[in-house]
Amino acid sequence: MDRCLLVLGASSDVGAAYIRAYHERYDKIVGTYYTNKEQAERLKEELGRKMEIFCLNMLQEEEIDRFAAFLRERALFPEYVLHLPAQKTEMKRAEELESGRLREDLELGVVSIMRLLRTLLPHMQEKEFGRICFLLSSVTEHPIAYQSSYLITKYALLGAVKALAVEYAPKKIMVNAVSPSMMDTKFIKNVSPFVKKKVLDTTAVKRLATVDDVIRAFAFLLDEKNEYMTGENLLLAGGGRINS
Ligand SMILES: NC(=O)c1ccc[n+]([C@@H]2O[C@H](COP(=O)([O-])OP(=O)(O)OC[C@H]3O[C@@H](n4cnc5c(N)ncnc54)[C@H](OP(=O)(O)O)[C@@H]3O)[C@@H](O)[C@H]2O)c1
Repeated sequence: MDRCLLVLGASSDVGAAYIRAYHERYDKIVGTYYTNKEQAERLKEELGRKMEIFCLNMLQEEEIDRFAAFLRERALFPEYVLHLPAQKTEMKRAEELESGRLREDLELGVVSIMRLLRTLLPHMQEKEFGRICFLLSSVTEHPIAYQSSYLITKYALLGAVKALAVEYAPKKIMVNAVSPSMMDTKFIKNVSPFVKKKVLDTTAVKRLATVDDVIRAFAFLLDEKNEYMTGENLLLAGGGRINS
């Protein structure tokens, strides 16, 4: 059986790092990007025919359907799925949260992947095999103030993990999540040094999470030998907790 990996958000620092470190596990890799074409093209250049890249704005329902049609046309039916997309967070009081922003976060974070899974899950069920992993955040264990839209979206995604895990476990589809504390990637380029230091100080290991910490957890959860762990949210918080 060909092993096909789909990385939604392959252009993210963490997505690109996972592909570079673990591509040998897969026969085919499909990676999506939205604005960072350069990163996606670099991956394509490095991996050649093994890698397919696709520009996908997950905020558009018709784009999701166009992507699903692309997978069907190419007979690409990934049974390994890594989900990474998210918009940069905004620090705001809950009373200032605009409903448009919340709707967008939920659309990008949750609604779009549920729509895409309508295409992916039937094939996984037929094969009786699937591994799906989501990237959440340590806020799902240790909520912090002034990030309500981000928090609500990640919790909704955790709901998706639980719902999918319980429903598809009989078909040997394992669905899990990884929840790291702050990682030094471009995702947090607008976060002030003060906040970064505050997070760092609350970890017992006295450092932020790294992309390597996170991709090792993906590798474990996406492993074909993981036949028992499902519906879990693996916390990577350096032994600490963030108090708001
Ligand atoms: N960095 C942290 O401190 C931290 C901590 C915990 C969890 N996380 C989670 O890690 C994930 C992102 O990883 P990262 O830190 O490596 O950040 P990143 O490089 O900024 O990644 C964000 C990803 O989301 C994609 N994206 C944004 N808007 C999109 C849209 N409308 N449609 C499709 N894709 C879209 C981006 O695509 P393009 O770049 O191509 O536009 C990119 O691949 C997020 O889920 C985030 O919540 C990050």
